[in-house]
Amino acid sequence: MGLSLQQNFKLGVLGGGQLGRMLIQSGIDFNIPFTILDPDAHAPCASLAEFHHGKLTDYDTVMKFGSACDIITIEIENVSTAALKALAKQGKKVFPQPEVIELIQDKRIQKKFYHDNGIPTAEFILTENAEDVKRNAGFLPAVNKLGREGYDGRGVQILRTEADLPKAFNAPGLLEKLIDFEKEISVIVARNERGEVKTFPAVEMVFHPVHNLVEYLFSPASISNEISAEADRLAQKIILDLNMVGLLAVEMFVTKDGRVLVNEIAPRPHNSGHQTIEANTTSQYEQHLRAILNLPLGDTRIVLPSAMVNLLGEPGYEGLAQYQGFDEVVKLPGVHVHLYGKRSTKPFRKMGHVTIVDNDVERLKKKVNFVKETLKVIA
Ligand SMILES: Nc1ncnc2c1ncn2[C@@H]1O[C@H](COP(=O)(O)OP(=O)(O)O)[C@@H](O)[C@H]1O
Ligand SMILES: [Mg+2]
Repeated sequence: MGLSLQQNFKLGVLGGGQLGRMLIQSGIDFNIPFTILDPDAHAPCASLAEFHHGKLTDYDTVMKFGSACDIITIEIENVSTAALKALAKQGKKVFPQPEVIELIQDKRIQKKFYHDNGIPTAEFILTENAEDVKRNAGFLPAVNKLGREGYDGRGVQILRTEADLPKAFNAPGLLEKLIDFEKEISVIVARNERGEVKTFPAVEMVFHPVHNLVEYLFSPASISNEISAEADRLAQKIILDLNMVGLLAVEMFVTKDGRVLVNEIAPRPHNSGHQTIEANTTSQYEQHLRAILNLPLGDTRIVLPSAMVNLLGEPGYEGLAQYQGFDEVVKLPGVHVHLYGKRSTKPFRKMGHVTIVDNDVERLKKKVNFVKETLKVIA
């Protein structure tokens, strides 16, 4: 074992949101002592571990926090990689490595990485500002993405025709061909320090037929063996090309003509892996811990088909969160509710998620609809 779990060591996590919270939940089984840094004094992890209140992007804050840790990891990418590099130089174990976080922080560098390594991705051009986007009207229909600090759809917009050009982002970003995809899938892959690599079976995002929003996630993805093998191969290739240690989520498009294109990657536990807590032998959180502690990677097999529904703040409500329909939902067999412990709700804020397991896929879908209609976060 790379690091004795009996020894007095500390695992530091940059970020104390829901991903950190579920990482702590899993770490309890391995008796792991956590220390957390987050800019919000009421972050979901605040009362669950040793907690430090401070900015993740501030060099001195991260240096001071990291100096008291043995291993440092992240649950959000927007952190001071300069501090993480200095900590790694001092001999701290930093996983994922700061260089990998830096590459992923900027979608422009991410795209260049795919291009340079022969990883299939949507055709793109880099743009410096809105004028630049407008000059490339011939590239439409396209998706305009901000290079940095756009997440959960905030840095992404579709430019279908020239009439959409006035809303182009006026900051370094990129234009990507609009892909008329058949499905969006995700593969989570892990690699430990000794080089062992393991993937989870692909999951599929199911879109709302009218609103074009991810409605729920389904595991396993309903794809052919060939597509599944290609998605698996790409996820493994990316973590190896990055030489990364830790957990990596790989979001991909399956095109109507059967190609798999990489959309984006995230070097940490991911929304598309929540269902592994109930539905796979090893959860993504445990796998992340195994990878960064250089333990043997866990069995990723699916125990039962599952669906995952994000529990978002109901539009029209803002304030102290209340959970309507909780009893009715937890009464259903195979339904597990996760609340993230956020005190206040606002429209579309991620407040929790629900995992539903069922051997019968039709029944599973019925339960998804019941959960979506019944459980609401209001104020
Ligand atoms: N090139 C593209 N063609 C079609 N849809 C896209 C494209 N790029 C992104 N999207 C859609 O926008 C969503 C968000 O884009 P993504 O790059 O994953 O940004 P975020 O960081 O917000 O998750 C994707 O999940 C997908 O549904
Ligand atoms: Mg995404």
